[in-house]
Amino acid sequence: MAVTLSTINKIKSQGEKFTCLTTYDATFANLVSRAGVEIILVGDSLGMVLQGRESTVPVSVEEMAYHTACVRRGNQGALIMSDLPFMSYATEAQGLESAAALMRAGAHIVKLEGGQWLCPLVKKLADGGIPACVHLGLTPQSVNKFGGYKVQGRDAATRQQLIDDSLAAEAAGAAILLYECIPSDLMSEIMKKVHAPVIGIGAGGSTDGQVLVLHDMLGITPGKTAKFVRNFMVGGVSIAGAVEAYVKAVKDGSFPSTEHEFE
Ligand code: KIV
Repeated sequence: MAVTLSTINKIKSQGEKFTCLTTYDATFANLVSRAGVEIILVGDSLGMVLQGRESTVPVSVEEMAYHTACVRRGNQGALIMSDLPFMSYATEAQGLESAAALMRAGAHIVKLEGGQWLCPLVKKLADGGIPACVHLGLTPQSVNKFGGYKVQGRDAATRQQLIDDSLAAEAAGAAILLYECIPSDLMSEIMKKVHAPVIGIGAGGSTDGQVLVLHDMLGITPGKTAKFVRNFMVGGVSIAGAVEAYVKAVKDGSFPSTEHEFE
């Protein structure tokens, strides 16, 4: 049975966990969806993972639409979430057009990075039949503003800002909230205040779902491994076995553990 937003809400209401992994092509979409991952994220991380760029900033809507269409052809029933890339939603009109391009390419939901300034667009998208996931915390498209990939929400002002942004995004109609690299106690506090399904990456174990970049959890990303990543391709398992182990670990609560959290 195909996974829909209703499925995700049902999993949350039953107090169970759901899984999300980035995927950028048909072959991996087939493997990941058959391994039981509920949400495939066609992330703009493809700019770094596939294209070898330094950040996600250069990625275009056309590239996102191309990879979304590839994923859609291989997908076996997962919910496909596609990233609106950098500056493709700087105005409402641009955001609607970019989101429509990704939906036409095969996305079921779009993801966009930011806080309260996004709310009018999130509402317009929802009114127009396009569900949106709002990505908060460390938003990689703002790496130049942050001065690096840094944990967010470490001081009182930014903690409060994240709480306010979360409530505003939910009130605007965000279907899913996603938090990247924030302290786990802040994540737990936000979890008590919001009702939408929440996905975390480097945000601790309190969220309803987890996401990782596929190449990170397969241990094939060059360079230093981020604190919040676990390599699941260990002990001679196949790629499918590693993805299944990830699904199992998220669902039984053994991933993420305290070693993957920020305090
Ligand atoms: O593009 C991406 O892969 C993402 C995840 C890091 C959440 O946005």
